[in-house]
Amino acid sequence: MTQIKEPASRGAYRLIDAGDEQKLEMVGPYKVVRQAAQAFWPRKLDAREWQRDVNGVHVRTQKGGGFWKFEQRPPESWIVDWRGFRFKAKLTDFGHIGLFPEQGATNFEWLRRHAADPSLHVINLFGYTGGSSLAAAAAGAQVTHVDASKGVVTWARENFELNGLGDHPVRWIVEDVVKYLEREVRRGNRYQGFILDPPTYGRGPKGQIWRIEKDLPILLDLIEKLADPFAFILLSCHTPGFTACSLKNILHMAFDLPLAQIEAGEMTVGIENSELVLPSGTYARWAV
Ligand SMILES: C[S@@+](CC[C@H](N)C(=O)[O-])C[C@H]1O[C@@H](n2cnc3c(N)ncnc32)[C@H](O)[C@@H]1O
Repeated sequence: MTQIKEPASRGAYRLIDAGDEQKLEMVGPYKVVRQAAQAFWPRKLDAREWQRDVNGVHVRTQKGGGFWKFEQRPPESWIVDWRGFRFKAKLTDFGHIGLFPEQGATNFEWLRRHAADPSLHVINLFGYTGGSSLAAAAAGAQVTHVDASKGVVTWARENFELNGLGDHPVRWIVEDVVKYLEREVRRGNRYQGFILDPPTYGRGPKGQIWRIEKDLPILLDLIEKLADPFAFILLSCHTPGFTACSLKNILHMAFDLPLAQIEAGEMTVGIENSELVLPSGTYARWAV
């Protein structure tokens, strides 16, 4: 695997402010403004702070995608530190930056604790650029990383290289999650740890449609067949209606887990110099 060229400028991810349905972030040395549909409160910092030295503002278009309006265009990609890992950051048209800070803030420590066993096989579904795969691998577990997009799987591999984990046992799979798990069941393969962060709507590499309401039960059914022995599961999402309570009930019903042993809540990111946190999706998790 080719080593990516490391730009000189680095720094940590920071959420500087949120309010009026937007968030102001430092992605390493670059300052960006993105939508935060859940920030129904006024901003703490004044307009000058929100505008000063801003590199880019993401504008959402009606179709759901969007574009960046650049004041000072950052490089194509750079390195950012977050929760003990280094990530290749990049501003995508969709308004993503290459990592979901709420996963790091809410779940990385928990994953590190429950994946700290080299005999454990962990599968990360909808793995994207590999944040949760990194947390599981750094703890010691063997990881299978599944995503429909070849581009993001390459990106995840680059993130492993950046963190000195390029030689860690990882299976990189570009495949539709349901298709892949069906094949794993047929092959008799087994996993002990499961991480899944399903989108509301997605597509497999051959155009297979993923809809959370219809397909999540199918996926959980496959997971039940693959879990042996079942060590942990972390389910998170950003879909309206899939509240913490709802995710908890889903795990309870799918795997007959005691409700009292399932932790659930909102994924959050702390706002700098403030007691406020920005809610960013929900999670439910269980470990033996
Ligand atoms: C919300 S992101 C997951 C974020 C990730 N868990 C993290 O914390 O960094 C959704 C991902 O699901 C992938 N995806 C969507 N539909 C898929 C499918 N049918 N099979 C496999 N991956 C899919 C997309 O390519 C995308 O990378």
